[in-house]
Amino acid sequence: MMTSAQLRQSFLDFFAEKQHAIVPSSSLLPDAPNLLFTNAGMNQFVPIFLGETACPYSPPRAADTQKCIRAGGKHNDLEDVGLDTYHHTFFEMLGNWSFGNYFKQEAIAWAWELVVGRWGFPAQRLYATVYAPDRSKHDPAEFDQEAYDAWAALFTKAGLDPKIHIVSGNKQDNFWMMGDTGPCGPCSELHVDLTADGDTNGALVNQGDARCIEIWNLVFIQYNANGDGTYDPLPARHVDTGMGFERVCSIIQGTKNFTDFKNAQISNYHTDVFAPIFAKIEKLCGLKYCRTLPVSGLTRLRGQERVDVAFRVLADHIRALSCAIADGILPGNDDRNYVLRRILRRAVLWGRSLNLHRPFFHQLAPVVADTLGDVFPELRKNAALIV
Ligand code: SER
Repeated sequence: MMTSAQLRQSFLDFFAEKQHAIVPSSSLLPDAPNLLFTNAGMNQFVPIFLGETACPYSPPRAADTQKCIRAGGKHNDLEDVGLDTYHHTFFEMLGNWSFGNYFKQEAIAWAWELVVGRWGFPAQRLYATVYAPDRSKHDPAEFDQEAYDAWAALFTKAGLDPKIHIVSGNKQDNFWMMGDTGPCGPCSELHVDLTADGDTNGALVNQGDARCIEIWNLVFIQYNANGDGTYDPLPARHVDTGMGFERVCSIIQGTKNFTDFKNAQISNYHTDVFAPIFAKIEKLCGLKYCRTLPVSGLTRLRGQERVDVAFRVLADHIRALSCAIADGILPGNDDRNYVLRRILRRAVLWGRSLNLHRPFFHQLAPVVADTLGDVFPELRKNAALIV
């Protein structure tokens, strides 16, 4: 079974083979003034998309794993963290980029080649979404026929009906924007049916159901949003993709390399990404993590459910805090620093559900440095500061 480290490497190796420069993650402290934290792999490339900076890579392609925090801004998942299997404040986003070079055909063909061909995702469990503007809401741009045709050819070749496996989505689901302004465009996502029999025929796509989750978003950057609802075409067309690293790990590891969907317990938290952190929390509080999920919401959490939410909250939040502090963003009184303070408080508060009443949270930081330090060396360099 692939470990998370092997999976990350496999993604980067694949795109290195396709002549992408493998670049480091940028800092969680964004350059863009309208962002609290780096929230997507494309943030560091915005000046290239806008034509303000020349692309330094030849051919003009790049790939990486990017540290992201989605809390407190346009993309804000903080209050969901702990309650389900796949929301995080901090996560890694694997991505590949074309800067005015290849476009939809290659992006889609390579996505399929990696996911189906190399990793072995069962094609019949995959669903692609394409952009279809809702005219009544004045959504920008046109139906994405080009993306539709590229996916249709791949599904057809696999003996699957494109009419079932390609689902349309309007601006809300299939037009990606970093914030209210900046480079943006129609997107096409890959979703995976994780049900026991994999026979939902697309009914769960974009329904907020953990049994069918998005793993990869391919954005076709063509516009600059002005913030007043208008969009200017960019001088060149670009590709910006983002894959949820922990999600892909959860599917591969949870199904034992796709061999068992019937007994699978697919959760980002049940992977080797989180296992060492959970082991440390168990040691600190003497309680066991039992993988339960809240049945009837946050307000009526009972016994083990409360314990398990707390484990997930702590494991997520220590990663966010560690990585943010490693990049020089400290908990504080305003702006992004205050968002960090809220994450820290939320963690400490949930610690009480594990009977952790004395300072404990810092003891999880070295585990994060151990598990992620090879990929993000700043975690080791700033270990003392983080603690
Ligand atoms: N920017 C897109 C996203 O964050 C794809 O990388 O989903």
